[in-house]
Amino acid sequence: MSDHILVERRGPVQIVRMNRPEKKNAITRAMYARMAAALREGDADPAIRCQVIFGLPGVFSSGNDIADFLAHGTGGERGTESVDFLMALARSEKPLLSGVDGIAVGIGVTINLHCDLTFATPRTVFRAPFLDLGLLPEAGSTLTGPRIMGHQQAFGLFVLGEGFSAEQAKAAGLIYAVVGEDELEEKTLSAAQALAAKPPQALKIARDLMRPDREELVKRIRIESDHIGERLQSAEAKAAFNAFLDRKRS
Ligand code: COA
Repeated sequence: MSDHILVERRGPVQIVRMNRPEKKNAITRAMYARMAAALREGDADPAIRCQVIFGLPGVFSSGNDIADFLAHGTGGERGTESVDFLMALARSEKPLLSGVDGIAVGIGVTINLHCDLTFATPRTVFRAPFLDLGLLPEAGSTLTGPRIMGHQQAFGLFVLGEGFSAEQAKAAGLIYAVVGEDELEEKTLSAAQALAAKPPQALKIARDLMRPDREELVKRIRIESDHIGERLQSAEAKAAFNAFLDRKRS
Protein backbone atom coordinates (compact mmCIF):
# COMPACT_ATOMS: atom_id res chain seq x y z
CA MET A 1 0.00 0.00 0.00
CA SER A 2 1.25 3.48 -0.85
CA ASP A 3 2.65 5.59 1.97
CA HIS A 4 1.30 8.70 0.27
CA ILE A 5 -1.50 8.53 2.79
CA LEU A 6 -0.65 7.81 6.40
CA VAL A 7 -3.38 6.78 8.80
CA GLU A 8 -2.77 6.95 12.50
CA ARG A 9 -4.88 6.63 15.61
CA ARG A 10 -4.38 8.60 18.78
CA GLY A 11 -6.91 7.25 21.22
CA PRO A 12 -10.35 8.17 19.87
CA VAL A 13 -8.95 10.41 17.11
CA GLN A 14 -8.03 9.10 13.67
CA ILE A 15 -5.54 11.15 11.66
CA VAL A 16 -5.43 10.93 7.87
CA ARG A 17 -2.29 12.59 6.55
CA MET A 18 -1.38 13.38 2.95
CA ASN A 19 2.29 12.54 2.49
CA ARG A 20 3.54 13.09 -1.05
CA PRO A 21 6.03 15.91 -0.53
CA GLU A 22 7.81 15.46 -3.86
CA LYS A 23 4.60 16.53 -5.64
CA LYS A 24 3.41 18.99 -3.01
CA ASN A 25 0.71 16.55 -1.96
CA ALA A 26 -0.96 16.48 -5.38
CA ILE A 27 -3.69 13.90 -4.88
CA THR A 28 -3.72 10.82 -7.10
CA ARG A 29 -6.53 8.35 -7.63
CA ALA A 30 -4.85 5.90 -5.24
CA MET A 31 -4.62 8.61 -2.58
CA TYR A 32 -8.31 9.48 -2.93
CA ALA A 33 -9.18 5.80 -2.61
CA ARG A 34 -7.08 5.37 0.54
CA MET A 35 -8.48 8.50 2.15
CA ALA A 36 -12.07 7.50 1.37
CA ALA A 37 -11.48 4.05 2.87
CA ALA A 38 -9.84 5.52 5.98
CA LEU A 39 -12.67 7.99 6.57
CA ARG A 40 -15.25 5.23 6.22
CA GLU A 41 -13.29 2.94 8.52
CA GLY A 42 -13.13 5.71 11.11
CA ASP A 43 -16.86 6.34 10.78
CA ALA A 44 -17.64 2.65 11.20
CA ASP A 45 -15.40 2.10 14.24
CA PRO A 46 -17.08 2.95 17.56
CA ALA A 47 -13.64 3.50 19.13
CA ILE A 48 -13.08 6.49 16.81
CA ARG A 49 -14.94 9.66 17.79
CA CYS A 50 -13.33 12.27 15.57
CA GLN A 51 -11.25 12.42 12.38
CA VAL A 52 -8.54 14.87 11.36
CA ILE A 53 -7.00 15.57 7.95
CA PHE A 54 -3.46 16.96 7.82
CA GLY A 55 -0.90 17.60 5.13
CA LEU A 56 2.78 18.25 5.75
CA PRO A 57 4.62 21.31 7.05
CA GLY A 58 4.22 24.00 4.39
CA VAL A 59 2.08 21.82 2.15
CA PHE A 60 -1.52 20.87 2.72
CA SER A 61 -2.23 19.94 -0.90
CA SER A 62 -1.57 21.27 -4.41
CA GLY A 63 -4.88 19.78 -5.51
CA ASN A 64 -5.82 17.01 -7.84
CA ASP A 65 -2.84 15.46 -9.63
CA ILE A 66 -2.78 17.25 -12.97
CA ALA A 67 -1.22 14.29 -14.78
CA ASP A 68 -4.23 12.24 -13.63
CA PHE A 69 -6.55 14.95 -14.95
CA LEU A 70 -4.75 14.84 -18.30
CA ALA A 71 -4.89 11.04 -18.47
CA HIS A 72 -8.64 11.25 -18.08
CA GLY A 73 -8.93 13.96 -20.72
CA THR A 74 -6.96 11.91 -23.23
CA GLY A 75 -9.24 8.92 -22.90
CA GLY A 76 -7.80 7.38 -19.73
CA GLU A 77 -10.18 5.52 -17.49
CA ARG A 78 -12.61 7.79 -15.69
CA GLY A 79 -11.41 8.48 -12.15
CA THR A 80 -14.24 7.56 -9.79
CA GLU A 81 -11.98 7.57 -6.74
CA SER A 82 -12.13 11.34 -6.33
CA VAL A 83 -15.94 11.31 -6.39
CA ASP A 84 -15.96 8.45 -3.92
CA PHE A 85 -13.72 10.45 -1.60
CA LEU A 86 -16.04 13.44 -1.86
CA MET A 87 -18.97 11.19 -0.99
CA ALA A 88 -17.08 9.94 2.08
CA LEU A 89 -16.59 13.57 3.13
CA ALA A 90 -20.19 14.56 2.46
CA ARG A 91 -21.55 11.51 4.28
CA SER A 92 -19.10 11.59 7.17
CA GLU A 93 -20.70 10.60 10.46
CA LYS A 94 -18.26 12.03 12.99
CA PRO A 95 -16.64 15.42 13.50
CA LEU A 96 -14.09 16.12 10.82
CA LEU A 97 -11.27 18.59 11.40
CA SER A 98 -8.40 19.79 9.26
CA GLY A 99 -5.09 21.48 9.92
CA VAL A 100 -3.77 23.44 6.95
CA ASP A 101 -0.28 24.88 6.53
CA GLY A 102 1.11 26.54 3.42
CA ILE A 103 -0.06 25.39 0.01
CA ALA A 104 -3.79 24.74 -0.26
CA VAL A 105 -5.00 24.52 -3.86
CA GLY A 106 -8.18 23.17 -5.48
CA ILE A 107 -9.39 20.20 -3.47
CA GLY A 108 -6.91 21.37 -0.84
CA VAL A 109 -9.39 24.23 -0.35
CA THR A 110 -12.70 22.49 -0.89
CA ILE A 111 -11.97 19.64 1.56
CA ASN A 112 -12.28 22.25 4.28
CA LEU A 113 -15.86 23.08 3.33
CA HIS A 114 -16.69 19.57 4.61
CA CYS A 115 -14.84 20.04 7.87
CA ASP A 116 -16.45 21.13 11.12
CA LEU A 117 -13.32 22.97 12.25
CA THR A 118 -10.31 24.00 10.16
CA PHE A 119 -7.18 25.50 11.67
CA ALA A 120 -4.73 27.21 9.32
CA THR A 121 -1.40 28.99 9.68
CA PRO A 122 -0.64 32.59 8.72
CA ARG A 123 1.51 31.48 5.76
CA THR A 124 -1.35 29.50 4.24
CA VAL A 125 -2.83 30.72 0.96
CA PHE A 126 -6.06 29.14 -0.25
CA ARG A 127 -6.25 29.08 -4.05
CA ALA A 128 -8.92 27.54 -6.26
CA PRO A 129 -7.90 28.11 -9.91
CA PHE A 130 -10.65 25.87 -11.30
CA LEU A 131 -11.73 28.27 -14.04
CA ASP A 132 -8.16 28.92 -15.20
CA LEU A 133 -7.84 25.17 -15.75
CA GLY A 134 -11.04 25.11 -17.82
CA LEU A 135 -12.81 23.36 -14.94
CA LEU A 136 -15.37 24.40 -12.38
CA PRO A 137 -15.66 24.36 -8.60
CA GLU A 138 -16.07 20.86 -7.17
CA ALA A 139 -16.68 18.93 -3.96
CA GLY A 140 -20.13 20.48 -3.68
CA SER A 141 -18.55 23.93 -3.34
CA THR A 142 -21.02 25.51 -5.78
CA LEU A 143 -23.62 24.74 -3.09
CA THR A 144 -21.71 25.00 0.18
CA GLY A 145 -19.36 27.83 -0.86
CA PRO A 146 -22.08 30.50 -1.17
CA ARG A 147 -23.93 29.10 1.86
CA ILE A 148 -20.89 29.22 4.10
CA MET A 149 -19.20 32.34 2.77
CA GLY A 150 -21.91 34.25 0.94
CA HIS A 151 -22.09 34.51 -2.83
CA GLN A 152 -19.45 37.18 -3.38
CA GLN A 153 -16.71 35.67 -1.24
CA ALA A 154 -17.36 32.24 -2.77
CA PHE A 155 -17.37 33.70 -6.27
CA GLY A 156 -14.09 35.52 -5.61
CA LEU A 157 -12.43 32.39 -4.27
CA PHE A 158 -13.85 29.75 -6.59
CA VAL A 159 -14.59 31.57 -9.85
CA LEU A 160 -12.34 34.62 -9.95
CA GLY A 161 -9.71 32.35 -8.45
CA GLU A 162 -8.29 34.96 -6.12
CA GLY A 163 -6.02 33.57 -3.40
CA PHE A 164 -7.28 34.02 0.16
CA SER A 165 -4.88 34.50 3.04
CA ALA A 166 -5.66 32.60 6.22
CA GLU A 167 -7.10 35.77 7.75
CA GLN A 168 -9.31 36.35 4.70
CA ALA A 169 -10.42 32.72 4.84
CA LYS A 170 -11.32 33.15 8.48
CA ALA A 171 -13.21 36.38 7.83
CA ALA A 172 -15.07 34.62 5.01
CA GLY A 173 -16.04 31.71 7.28
CA LEU A 174 -14.01 29.10 5.41
CA ILE A 175 -11.88 28.29 8.46
CA TYR A 176 -12.25 28.38 12.23
CA ALA A 177 -8.95 29.78 13.48
CA VAL A 178 -5.50 31.00 12.45
CA VAL A 179 -2.71 29.49 14.56
CA GLY A 180 1.09 29.49 14.39
CA GLU A 181 2.92 26.88 12.33
CA ASP A 182 4.49 25.31 15.39
CA GLU A 183 1.13 24.89 17.15
CA LEU A 184 -1.04 23.79 14.22
CA GLU A 185 -1.08 20.10 14.99
CA GLU A 186 -1.35 20.57 18.73
CA LYS A 187 -4.29 23.00 18.47
CA THR A 188 -6.10 20.90 15.88
CA LEU A 189 -5.61 17.68 17.83
CA SER A 190 -6.56 19.29 21.10
CA ALA A 191 -9.89 20.41 19.56
CA ALA A 192 -10.32 16.88 18.16
CA GLN A 193 -9.70 15.34 21.59
CA ALA A 194 -12.14 17.78 23.19
CA LEU A 195 -14.83 16.80 20.67
CA ALA A 196 -14.01 13.13 21.18
CA ALA A 197 -14.67 13.57 24.89
CA LYS A 198 -18.22 14.93 24.36
CA PRO A 199 -21.17 12.60 24.88
CA PRO A 200 -21.21 10.86 21.49
CA GLN A 201 -24.97 10.61 20.98
CA ALA A 202 -25.56 14.28 21.76
CA LEU A 203 -22.62 15.19 19.55
CA LYS A 204 -24.01 13.22 16.64
CA ILE A 205 -27.44 14.82 16.93
CA ALA A 206 -25.96 18.33 17.16
CA ARG A 207 -23.65 17.75 14.21
CA ASP A 208 -26.36 16.22 12.03
CA LEU A 209 -28.67 19.15 12.76
CA MET A 210 -25.92 21.61 11.88
CA ARG A 211 -25.19 19.81 8.60
CA PRO A 212 -28.59 19.49 6.97
CA ASP A 213 -29.24 18.74 3.32
CA ARG A 214 -26.69 15.95 3.03
CA GLU A 215 -28.49 14.38 0.08
CA GLU A 216 -28.68 17.73 -1.68
CA LEU A 217 -24.91 18.00 -1.24
CA VAL A 218 -24.37 14.49 -2.60
CA LYS A 219 -26.55 15.33 -5.60
CA ARG A 220 -24.61 18.55 -6.23
CA ILE A 221 -21.29 16.70 -6.09
CA ARG A 222 -22.59 14.34 -8.78
CA ILE A 223 -23.80 17.19 -10.99
CA GLU A 224 -20.48 19.03 -10.67
CA SER A 225 -18.55 15.82 -11.32
CA ASP A 226 -20.51 15.13 -14.51
CA HIS A 227 -19.66 18.61 -15.78
CA ILE A 228 -16.03 18.20 -14.75
CA GLY A 229 -15.86 14.84 -16.54
CA GLU A 230 -16.88 16.64 -19.74
CA ARG A 231 -14.63 19.62 -19.07
CA LEU A 232 -11.62 17.29 -18.68
CA GLN A 233 -12.07 16.31 -22.33
CA SER A 234 -12.12 19.94 -23.51
CA ALA A 235 -9.33 21.54 -25.50
CA GLU A 236 -9.10 24.44 -23.02
CA ALA A 237 -8.59 22.13 -20.05
CA LYS A 238 -6.04 19.96 -21.86
CA ALA A 239 -4.10 23.07 -22.91
CA ALA A 240 -4.01 24.31 -19.30
CA PHE A 241 -2.84 20.93 -17.96
CA ASN A 242 -0.12 20.67 -20.62
CA ALA A 243 1.00 24.24 -19.94
CA PHE A 244 1.49 23.34 -16.26
CA LEU A 245 3.28 20.06 -16.92
CA ASP A 246 5.51 21.63 -19.63
CA ARG A 247 6.31 24.84 -17.75
CA LYS A 248 9.78 23.78 -16.62
CA ARG A 249 10.80 22.65 -20.13
CA SER A 250 10.60 26.06 -21.82
N1 COA B 1 -0.44 17.82 -10.02
C1 COA B 1 0.67 17.17 -10.40
N2 COA B 1 1.91 17.55 -10.04
C2 COA B 1 2.00 18.65 -9.26
C3 COA B 1 0.90 19.38 -8.84
C4 COA B 1 -0.38 18.92 -9.23
N3 COA B 1 -1.51 19.52 -8.84
N4 COA B 1 1.33 20.42 -8.07
C5 COA B 1 2.66 20.33 -8.03
N5 COA B 1 3.08 19.26 -8.76
C6 COA B 1 4.46 18.81 -8.95
C7 COA B 1 5.22 19.70 -9.89
O1 COA B 1 4.96 19.33 -11.25
C8 COA B 1 6.63 19.42 -9.45
O2 COA B 1 7.03 18.17 -10.01
P1 COA B 1 8.53 17.99 -10.59
O3 COA B 1 9.43 18.30 -9.43
O4 COA B 1 8.57 16.58 -11.03
O5 COA B 1 8.66 19.02 -11.68
C9 COA B 1 6.50 19.21 -7.95
O6 COA B 1 5.14 18.90 -7.71
C10 COA B 1 6.84 20.45 -7.16
O7 COA B 1 6.02 21.53 -7.65
P2 COA B 1 6.62 22.95 -8.01
O8 COA B 1 5.66 23.64 -8.94
O9 COA B 1 8.03 22.82 -8.45
O10 COA B 1 6.58 23.65 -6.57
P3 COA B 1 6.35 25.18 -6.24
O11 COA B 1 6.56 25.30 -4.77
O12 COA B 1 7.15 26.05 -7.15
O13 COA B 1 4.81 25.46 -6.56
C11 COA B 1 2.46 25.05 -6.51
C12 COA B 1 3.81 24.78 -5.84
C13 COA B 1 1.42 24.22 -5.76
C14 COA B 1 2.12 26.54 -6.38
C15 COA B 1 2.51 24.69 -7.99
O14 COA B 1 3.11 23.39 -8.12
C16 COA B 1 1.16 24.64 -8.65
O15 COA B 1 0.62 25.66 -9.01
N6 COA B 1 0.62 23.42 -8.83
C17 COA B 1 -0.62 23.20 -9.55
C18 COA B 1 -1.80 23.53 -8.67
C19 COA B 1 -3.08 23.26 -9.40
O16 COA B 1 -3.45 23.93 -10.34
N7 COA B 1 -3.81 22.21 -8.93
C20 COA B 1 -5.04 21.76 -9.50
C21 COA B 1 -6.17 22.48 -8.85
S1 COA B 1 -7.75 21.93 -9.47
